[in-house]
Amino acid sequence: MPATDLDQIVSLCKQRGFVYQSAEIYGGFRSTYDYGPLGSLLLRNVKDAWIRSMVQQRDDVVLIDAAILGPPQVWETSGHLGNFSDPLVDCTNCKNRFRLDKLDDPDTCPSCGKTNTFTEAREFNLMFKTQAGPVEGAGADAYLRPETAQGMFTNFGHVLQTSRKKPPFGIAQVGKSFRNEITPQNWIFRTREFEQMEMEFFVPPEDSEKWYEYWCKERLNWYIEHGIPADMVMLRPHDADELSHYSTGTSDVEFKFPWGFDELEGIAKRTDFDLKAHAAASGEKLDYFDPQTQERYVPFVIEPAAGATRAMAAFLLAAYDEDEVNGEKRTVLRLHPRLAPYKVAVLPLSKKDTLTPLAHEVRKLLAERYMVDYDETQNIGKRYRRQDEIGTPLAVTVDFDSLDDNAVTIRDRDTTEQVRVPIDELLATVSGKLGF
Ligand code: GAP
Repeated sequence: MPATDLDQIVSLCKQRGFVYQSAEIYGGFRSTYDYGPLGSLLLRNVKDAWIRSMVQQRDDVVLIDAAILGPPQVWETSGHLGNFSDPLVDCTNCKNRFRLDKLDDPDTCPSCGKTNTFTEAREFNLMFKTQAGPVEGAGADAYLRPETAQGMFTNFGHVLQTSRKKPPFGIAQVGKSFRNEITPQNWIFRTREFEQMEMEFFVPPEDSEKWYEYWCKERLNWYIEHGIPADMVMLRPHDADELSHYSTGTSDVEFKFPWGFDELEGIAKRTDFDLKAHAAASGEKLDYFDPQTQERYVPFVIEPAAGATRAMAAFLLAAYDEDEVNGEKRTVLRLHPRLAPYKVAVLPLSKKDTLTPLAHEVRKLLAERYMVDYDETQNIGKRYRRQDEIGTPLAVTVDFDSLDDNAVTIRDRDTTEQVRVPIDELLATVSGKLGF
């Protein structure tokens, strides 16, 4: 059973070193989080799995890594300085602030329960402003990007020229984005600093609808292929009043979070809005000359835009399970092997010097290819439980027989079944079990 309570995951993640509150020794800092030894690996694996599916396994998408800091022109042109805002209301009774569009009842304060105590809604821009260089004032203003997407539009000309791609093709990027959210909430679901995995897919305008449908299906399936049960994700088309300023149609992939279905990713029809706006503002040509038709056109864009940190929360919630092994209750994270922080744990049966050299040899052998955890503390049962709880798919036990038969035991996280394999065949067997 996946976790039904966010606190189950939040506390497991803190105890086991996935996610900590940022600057906790100073009381924590406003909904920001640090990713610990296991969380940083899991987050990296989520991003790698996305890059693998979206770039590596295709021949029509390339990857870039653009700057986080940008000049005001980019954000004026993209419409973010003018339009990227949320309606903010203050409760005059308890002084708390809320996003009007997220309130269940727009007249009642969810904090103090009073009605008709809200101020008029004000539009609050979500961009983080800073300054570049030591001198304040005009010319020094800079913004932290609120989406990675603009790097794909401003580099469209360069990428088109250097990658030798032609529409339909995509430019992908993974990286941090920043939004001064009015109400960050639900742990790493909505934070002010987060990671996105976005791809701008440039297509001939007449093919836009076809590619929109294609990407909606692809992206929904990606979550299912990586371990989220099919009944926990769905596609939800936006109502007209929900659309972003650049979109003529968007569908969200939604996940069944403990508080209900909520957004994991948006797939948007961004049309030629961004390329046309940047071309007009910069004076650069941001279009494509089709040598076959001898026509120049501005491609339309289909954009699957996912959150890496938000996806990580969903993968953890979906993977959480509790069952019984030999009459004992255990907690197990049934993470997809590609996402699991460690793929294999090497567990010598005893800490005795006689076993240690062989156990380390086994660790080294596996670590050439996989992220491996080595643990020789506590009894073997407790060590299995710990590995189950952090989602390690396989545990390899080195015991005293191993010294004679040169074989080890592999235990499977999900079934707890054990098989004995010669060390010579260990890599091949582990690879067969993990699927890579
Ligand atoms: N370029 C389009 C774009 O940024 P978005 O729907 O605003 O679209 C895409 O963001 C994804 O980024 C969201 O579906 C979500 O997964 C993630 N995301 C957005 N704001 C977030 C926040 N404050 N905290 C965590 N993830 C966020």
